[in-house]
Amino acid sequence: MQTTITVPLPNSPYQVEISPGGLNKLGESLLPLKLGKKVLLVSSPEIFAHYGEIAVKSLQKANFEVIPHLIPAGESYKTLESISSLYDTALEHYLERSSTLLALGGGVIGDMTGFAAATWLRGINFIQVPTTLLAMVDASIGGKTGVNHPKGKNLIGSFYQPRLVLIDPLVLKTLPVREFRAGMAEVIKYGIIWDAELFERLEQATAIDDFATCSPELLQFILTRSCQAKVDVVSQDEKEAGIRAILNYGHTIGHAVESLTGYTLLNHGEAVAIGMIAAGRLASQLSLWSLAEEALQKLLIEKAGLPTAIPSQLNLKDILEALKSDKKVKAGKIRFILPKQIGEVIITDQVSAEMILSSLQK
Ligand code: GLY
Repeated sequence: MQTTITVPLPNSPYQVEISPGGLNKLGESLLPLKLGKKVLLVSSPEIFAHYGEIAVKSLQKANFEVIPHLIPAGESYKTLESISSLYDTALEHYLERSSTLLALGGGVIGDMTGFAAATWLRGINFIQVPTTLLAMVDASIGGKTGVNHPKGKNLIGSFYQPRLVLIDPLVLKTLPVREFRAGMAEVIKYGIIWDAELFERLEQATAIDDFATCSPELLQFILTRSCQAKVDVVSQDEKEAGIRAILNYGHTIGHAVESLTGYTLLNHGEAVAIGMIAAGRLASQLSLWSLAEEALQKLLIEKAGLPTAIPSQLNLKDILEALKSDKKVKAGKIRFILPKQIGEVIITDQVSAEMILSSLQK
């Protein structure tokens, strides 16, 4: 059971391989790319403890020289200081233009490694081996790389595409269940914005709230369809000049809720789930889609074990204020991605403050 999806970008095409057990063949998978000998493998201590040995052995078997570099897990380490320490390791080991930076980890590790790869010697090879569901279906594909600024998330970065994304679904067995569910929020997002069949399959599944209860076939289907959706969108609009913005469905209110709760109460996927609920309600209020479709979305979000309500300590007016300072605000207007039906969304800035407030009411 292996799926290969090509990302058909004109200047930098690459493949997304979804391969159960694929981590054991990591080294082999890199051989067709004709990379130089040195691979700087970036990971977090937790992930490296689980999967470092398998990855390193496989790379060494394929004759790569591997230099591990560990960065503590978490958003608070997604900084220029961490990048600076990565550069130090790159310098110490004489990483050259033909060398490779490989990310083995979640979205934070992937974003940072990509940024270091984009900037070291003006760009060296970059490989993504995502280990969270969220990174598999979203962050590892499409080339968004970067770090946080003390004043805001992902303010520093560049678009830099990997040479290969290798997804081994089996590594999800060690992912905490809450993080699995966070990834499932993005999967549901693809069902709403792009792929009605994926949405239906999730509805029919016995369970989608835990790796242990998802069959290998279901997981392969979920990964394949989600990655394909992301690839379809990104390959039409690599630098987010237009359609790529639909990937932000649920993220407008999601980001506001996430930042107002200090990025601690909710994880990203949970905030996106709450944002999708609010966007779904807005879409019903505007008669874009039906109340029945709104209800189906809510059922699926609940089925994934995700929250649906705005945390009670948040003031709705504060959410509105936070929305106004979001990256997605264009010429003072808040831009929303709203569903027209399951599988199709529109981008609109024709949503009044009153409507937003009413969509947030419990
Ligand atoms: N995560 C949204 C994007 O890659 O555009």
